[in-house]
Amino acid sequence: MNKNVTRPAMSSLRYAIRPLTERDGPQLVDFLRRFFLRDEHLNAAVGLMAGGRQSCPEQEELLLDALPHGLSLQAVDVETGRLLGVITNGLHRAGHEEENIRRAEKLRDPAFREIRRFLTFIDLQVSEKLRNMYPDIDHHQVEVLGGSVDTAVRHCGIITDLIEHSRKMGKEKGISLMRADCTSIYSMKACEYFGFKKIFSIKYDTYQRDGKVVFPPTKESGDELATYVQKLN
Ligand SMILES: CC(C)(COP(=O)(O)OP(=O)(O)OC[C@H]1O[C@@H](n2cnc3c(N)ncnc32)[C@H](O)[C@@H]1OP(=O)(O)O)[C@@H](O)C(=O)NCCC(=O)NCCS
Repeated sequence: MNKNVTRPAMSSLRYAIRPLTERDGPQLVDFLRRFFLRDEHLNAAVGLMAGGRQSCPEQEELLLDALPHGLSLQAVDVETGRLLGVITNGLHRAGHEEENIRRAEKLRDPAFREIRRFLTFIDLQVSEKLRNMYPDIDHHQVEVLGGSVDTAVRHCGIITDLIEHSRKMGKEKGISLMRADCTSIYSMKACEYFGFKKIFSIKYDTYQRDGKVVFPPTKESGDELATYVQKLN
């Protein structure tokens, strides 16, 4: 990271970026429960962890299922070995959009079902756009499924580094595209920094059920979910 921005005083923070593998599953789940499942915008908006809930097995399973793809990374404090941030990336294969919509409807957890309904609805439109934008490639994508940083070390450039390393890894593995459906203005900034193209967005206020906005926007979500894409190969 060599960006000329004002960041909190974290001069002692030294971290390494390492692969996040199936062996790291238990630490990943613990990290997700403490951060991502509570504070990622869609999760927070539907109150995924409300009422004292400590987990969301179906979402945890979806993220754990991505680990064997070998595209996920962790940022680890080099002094203490503490997990500081994760990026769970899946290999998204085009052509499964309708199947994913059907799967979303079968989820047992109503809050997570609402989230997957929204994301698969977006995927249908994004996939159509990608087919038109890049008619001659296979559309396999490194898809960011969950980016999360420990609240104590946010705004130190960790997600930006994790995105950069994911991009390099996808390129080395010969994957055509990288894609992130961003629900935070900070992850959007990180994608913009690396020249990702915003190819789709949807204003939260326009996505309603029974006349009610499903994911009311906040200062940190911004007013829209935006999909960023970069051609890697
Ligand atoms: C989104 C999230 C992963 C960002 O992680 P992070 O390591 O703090 O982000 P970075 O430090 O790499 O910052 C990324 C950009 O956002 C800016 N940013 C981050 N936190 C900020 C803050 N509190 N105030 C102002 N700007 C901030 C950075 O300056 C940087 O912008 P720049 O490229 O213009 O310099 C983290 O806030 C988080 O875990 N949020 C909850 C889960 C979530 O929303 N995940 C994303 C789903 S898409």
